[in-house]
Amino acid sequence: MPLTYPRPSLLREIADNCGTPVMIYDEDALRQTMREYTGSFKSEMFETSVLYASKAFLCKAMAKAALEEGLHFDAVSGGEIYCLAGAGVPAEKIHFHGNNKTPREIEEFFRMGRGHIIVDNCDELTLVIETAERMASPMDIIIRVNPGVEAHTHEYIATATKDSKFGISIDREDEIRRMIEAAENCPHLSFKGFHSHIGSQILEVEAFAAEIRVMFDFVDRVQQQWGVEVEELDLGGGFAISYTEKDNPPATEEVCSRIIALCEEEITRRKLDIRRLMIEPGRSIAGDAGYTLYTAGCRKMTDSKSFIFVDGGMADNIRPALYNAEYTCRNITRDNAKADRTYALAGKCCESGDILIKEARLPETFPGDLILVHSTGAYGYSMASNYNRLPRPAVVFTSGESYRTVIRRETYEDMMTLDVE
Ligand code: LLP
Repeated sequence: MPLTYPRPSLLREIADNCGTPVMIYDEDALRQTMREYTGSFKSEMFETSVLYASKAFLCKAMAKAALEEGLHFDAVSGGEIYCLAGAGVPAEKIHFHGNNKTPREIEEFFRMGRGHIIVDNCDELTLVIETAERMASPMDIIIRVNPGVEAHTHEYIATATKDSKFGISIDREDEIRRMIEAAENCPHLSFKGFHSHIGSQILEVEAFAAEIRVMFDFVDRVQQQWGVEVEELDLGGGFAISYTEKDNPPATEEVCSRIIALCEEEITRRKLDIRRLMIEPGRSIAGDAGYTLYTAGCRKMTDSKSFIFVDGGMADNIRPALYNAEYTCRNITRDNAKADRTYALAGKCCESGDILIKEARLPETFPGDLILVHSTGAYGYSMASNYNRLPRPAVVFTSGESYRTVIRRETYEDMMTLDVE
């Protein structure tokens, strides 16, 4: 499928008015995907919630759009929760994740109201119980288990192998049982169920089918053998997008209806009483609705390579350097010219690994040309740094023919505000 992108004249206008590098999100596309999720992740048998995984990309405008589209939120830090609260998201729509929530983060979340805490380990549960008792405040509790299902993704992205730092291995049943008992003995806490997440950029629906089988088998045992009621099940995120033509992810509706059908089947067959099912897409909402627009600068030839350097790089997109992630790009200035050259599209950071695209197909490209990199919307801005003291780019939302800045470009002065003399 050819990749769609905003009209070149709109991109030029954004570059002229906002400068480059600039991150551009097609807000209509963002909302469209959110609607595909809420529209197809539905069942007559149980309640469903789609939680946007804020870590993929978060700012107030993004949170407001997701809130308006009826999504709930997965947040992993006090900072993410602070941003969500600032956008008007109430505690009951926030699911607080993370493997090492600090006492302060936990306390602040309790102060916000009753939401969900996804407890990652025993020590954390102790902290949560202490906080609930001290503050006499209610909270819903979900325990993150590690089902040991390994999805085929890059090693750094997989989270559910046996030795993962996340969640409690599903075969440590005594530990899980003790945790449920401890939560239930605390009058302020309400144990709701389990969470699992098997990786990211998962292209095969079969991986989710395997996760569902393992999770329902577990829930069944917990209910039958321990007599514990499990009301809620959260299957995590990980739905893939297309970065290059090599990636052929299934459509959102297909993944959602398959997950729903499999869960309905398990619930009926095992006579379970699951009342709420959740998923947590991040990348598949923010990823391919986002682009980075750069300006080409100097070029350089070696014996075997032609380099084009752009005015950003690993500081605004660490993914190629960190995961060998692949992207596609186009020359917006020469949009009608044939892409018959191969360039190494490199960033301006002081690091040999700062190559955004090793073999970028482009027409002959000149200094000053605008280069658009596709599908940078997830884990680009959210993992951005000030390496080499590069200010973070501006972020712009487009809708139809109009656009608005949702995060302004960082300035040198912004970066200096933290220095204490
Ligand atoms: N839920 C949990 C518990 C997660 O750990 C994650 C991602 C998600 C949901 C959302 O997954 P998604 O739908 O976005 O795949 N920085 C890496 C990705 C790390 C993903 C971490 N957890 C990257 O740039 O590829």
